[in-house]
Amino acid sequence: MVVLITGATGLVGSKISEDLRSQGHTVHYLTTRQSAIKNEEKNKGFLWDVKEMTIDPKCIDGVDALIHLAGETVFQRWTDDAKKRILDSRIDSTQLLLKLLQENEHQVKHVVTASAIGIYPDYQNGKALKENDIPPTATNFLADVCIAWEKEGAKFQDLGLKHAVVRIGIVLSAKGGALDQMAKPVKFYAGAGFGNGKMWQSWVAIDDLSGIFIHIIKHTLEGIYNGVAPHPVRNRPMMEAIGKVLGKPVFLPNVPEFVMKLMLGEMSSIVLASQHASSEKIMEKGYHFEFPELESALKQYLK
Ligand SMILES: NC(=O)c1ccc[n+]([C@@H]2O[C@H](COP(=O)([O-])OP(=O)(O)OC[C@H]3O[C@@H](n4cnc5c(N)ncnc54)[C@H](OP(=O)(O)O)[C@@H]3O)[C@@H](O)[C@H]2O)c1
Repeated sequence: MVVLITGATGLVGSKISEDLRSQGHTVHYLTTRQSAIKNEEKNKGFLWDVKEMTIDPKCIDGVDALIHLAGETVFQRWTDDAKKRILDSRIDSTQLLLKLLQENEHQVKHVVTASAIGIYPDYQNGKALKENDIPPTATNFLADVCIAWEKEGAKFQDLGLKHAVVRIGIVLSAKGGALDQMAKPVKFYAGAGFGNGKMWQSWVAIDDLSGIFIHIIKHTLEGIYNGVAPHPVRNRPMMEAIGKVLGKPVFLPNVPEFVMKLMLGEMSSIVLASQHASSEKIMEKGYHFEFPELESALKQYLK
């Protein structure tokens, strides 16, 4: 199979790309940086410029499936300019891919686009949030972005293609991202929970997130899937588990919510959100988690 990936140089995309290649597939990827271009037998880079709406059409030669992850990072202060870049990079890139497929001959049959569990409302002491049983409510900027990105992605179906969405949770990896940020203070005995420490954190091991994307591609699955592990945890226990694995106990009181808001501004809503998302749907479709429990994932990525 030949898979075209956007965002393949990022945390999630680089893992999916590596796993696909190790399983014998060929990866084409789009990047905005000439320096990131490689031209190897099973790993070929192509340039695009989302602002200018230009793309190298050769990127879809022989491609069977497309995974769209690219977007400006949300882990920055949400100034008006940053918010515009975060939203536009996702919507415009989707439109550029739609245009590419409309204007060129291709054999793409299946598209998987990313979203985030930030689309869900905060946990209200109910059951785990499933993909279809709670209508997403946009109560913050991130939810607005997810809703707009999913709506734009649904247009791939208008081209007669099969389409799936993965709502990604908090990704745990040894190569940066959320776990690195959470573990840093713990290493200096300065770890603590945030706010009341009771927020649900629906995490996922990077190996499983990559596994979910590849499972969806291999079985040409359609619809929305939460990219989260089966056992989410609350914030304070998450920090304490990191401390346990690192051998550096977390004993400081939680950082109060108003301090988080002062430090991070509106972006603190990512850290303070409480989302308890269900992994049932992807499991019912036959996906088996390598890291269903937090401790084994932490041992894998913090060693
Ligand atoms: N990591 C998480 O915990 C998490 C959680 C929920 C959702 N997600 C979503 O999943 C996707 C992948 O996440 P990630 O952690 O792998 O992200 P990442 O490490 O920040 O990588 C983002 C990728 O997007 C590309 N990119 C950045 N700005 C762009 C722009 N303006 N135009 C076109 N391409 C651009 C970059 O590619 P080049 O520099 O090569 O062009 C890079 O490969 C993102 O959309 C993210 O919002 C991630």
